[in-house]
Amino acid sequence: MTDCQGDVEGASTPMELYEKLSEQGVKVRSLKSAKADKTKVDTAVQLLLKLKMDYKQMTGHDYKAGCPPSENDAAPNNGPAADVAGEDDTVDPWTVSTTNAKGVDYDKLIVVRFGSSKIDQELVDRIEKVCGQKPHRFLRRGVFFSHRDMHQVLDAYEKHKSFYLYTGRGPSSEAMHVGHLIPFIFTKWLQDVFDIPLVIQLTDDEKYLWKDLTVEECHRFAIENAKDIIACGFDINKTFIFSDLDYMGSSPEFYRNVVKIQKHVTFNQVKGIFGFTDSDCIGKISFPAIQAAPSFSNSFPHVFGSRKDIQCLIPCAIDQDPYFRMTRDVAPRIGYPKPALLHSTFFPALQGAQTKMSASDANSSIFLTDTPKQIKNKINKHAFSGGKDTVEEHRKYGGNADVDVSFMYLTFFLEDDEQLEKIRQDYTSGALLTGELKKILIETLQPMIAQHQERRKQVTDDLVKQFMTPRPLNFNL
Ligand code: TYM
Repeated sequence: MTDCQGDVEGASTPMELYEKLSEQGVKVRSLKSAKADKTKVDTAVQLLLKLKMDYKQMTGHDYKAGCPPSENDAAPNNGPAADVAGEDDTVDPWTVSTTNAKGVDYDKLIVVRFGSSKIDQELVDRIEKVCGQKPHRFLRRGVFFSHRDMHQVLDAYEKHKSFYLYTGRGPSSEAMHVGHLIPFIFTKWLQDVFDIPLVIQLTDDEKYLWKDLTVEECHRFAIENAKDIIACGFDINKTFIFSDLDYMGSSPEFYRNVVKIQKHVTFNQVKGIFGFTDSDCIGKISFPAIQAAPSFSNSFPHVFGSRKDIQCLIPCAIDQDPYFRMTRDVAPRIGYPKPALLHSTFFPALQGAQTKMSASDANSSIFLTDTPKQIKNKINKHAFSGGKDTVEEHRKYGGNADVDVSFMYLTFFLEDDEQLEKIRQDYTSGALLTGELKKILIETLQPMIAQHQERRKQVTDDLVKQFMTPRPLNFNL
C-alpha cells in the first residue's frame, strides 16, 4: 500500500482490477469460440477495453495476461499524471485545469485523489499556539489548505525537536510570476516564526530535460530566479539555495541519496505517478529522485552533518505533491523519516480559476518584472470579472466574488481581514462595481511588486554567491 489514502469512485485495487480483467478476457474468448451472438461479443469486448483503460490509468502500464501487478504498482489514488479530482479537474506538476469557474475542487482533490489531510481550524489554532504568532493570512484564508503529518511536526517541535524547511523552483525563464511567490512568501513566514533552517532547490536540470532550452540557459535562469527568491527576505544565516547542476556534482552525500531513491522506485511506479511513456528520455524518468533527495537531512552535510533523522517540512502548491508521495513511500525503506508537507491552492490565471497562473502564457500572468502600467492594463483588460454586464444589472443583482479573479487575488494579498470581508459584501450586494474592485487590486499589487523589484535590485551577484555556497547555517535543532 502506498502512502496515499482514499479511493476513486467505483475503482478497486490494481489486483482486483487485474482479476476482473482476467475474468473478462476468459469470457470474451469463450463467447468468441462459442460463436456467440455478435452484440453479446461486442458488449463483452467493450467492457474488456474499458477495464484495460482503467487498469492503465490506475497502474501506469498496460495490462498483460499472466503478469499480475506488483505491490509497487501505483494505487488508484496515486494515479497517473492526469490526476482526476472533480470529474474535469487535472492537477499534476505540469498541468492544472478544471471546467469549474470557481477553480479546482480542492476538498475533493485531497480526499478522493491525493489522500492528504485538510488544514482545519484546529490545526491553524495549533500552529498559532506553538509558534506564538498570528497565523499567516494564507493559513487564515485556506490558501494553504492541505497537509501531511503537520501534527507530527508540531508534536516534535513542542518537545524541542526541531525541523528544517525545503522548497524549490524550476527555473524555466528569467521572469517569475506572482503565483510563484506564494510558497516562498509562506516559507519565509515559517522560517521566521519557527526560527529554522531552509534549503531551496533550483531544478535547472529538470527544466533542461523538459524544455527546449540549453543547459547554460537553465543555469542562468536558476541564478536569476535565485535573486527573486532572495528578494523575498530569507535569512542568509539560515538559508542554503542550490542549483542541481552545481550541487549534484559537488556533494557525494546528495548523490548517494539520489541513487538510493532510484534503486527503490520502479519504472512502473514513476509511469503511474507522473504519466511517463516509453518515449520519454531517461533523464525525465530518473529526475523525481533528484527532487526527492533534499527531503533527507544528510543530503546537506555542511548543514546537518551526518544526521539523517531531522524532520523535513515542504511548503509547495499541491501540483508538486506527486513527487513527495513518491518520496514518502521510499523514505522508510531507506531508513529516513518521511517529509511532512503543507500544500497551497493555485494562484489563478487572469482569465479565470480554470487554470493556474502560468509563465508560458504572458497574458495569463502578472510577472515580477511588470511595470505599474503593465499591471494596470493586464488587470483591466484580462482579469475575469464576476460582475454583471451593465452597471444597472450589477447594482440590482450584485457580483459573484467566488468567480471574480480580482477578488481572488485580493484574498492572497490584502492583509486586512475586515477590509477584505467588506469588499466581498459590497461586491456581492452590487454596491462595489467591477472597475472599482479592479482599482483596489491594482493599488494593492502595484506597490507590492514595485517593492519586490526594489529589494531585487539590492541583491548583488556576491549575495547570490553567498546564499548558494555550501556552508554551515545558524540554528538550534
Ligand atoms: P515551479 O517552478 O513550477 O514552481 C515553484 C513553486 O511555485 C508553486 N507554483 C504555484 N503556486 C501557486 N500558484 C501558482 N499559480 C503556482 N505555480 C507554481 C509550485 O508548486 C512550487 O512550489 N519541480 C519544481 C521545483 C521544485 C520544488 C521542490 C517545488 C524542486 N523541489 C520542492 C516545491 C518544493 C517546479 O518546477 O516548481
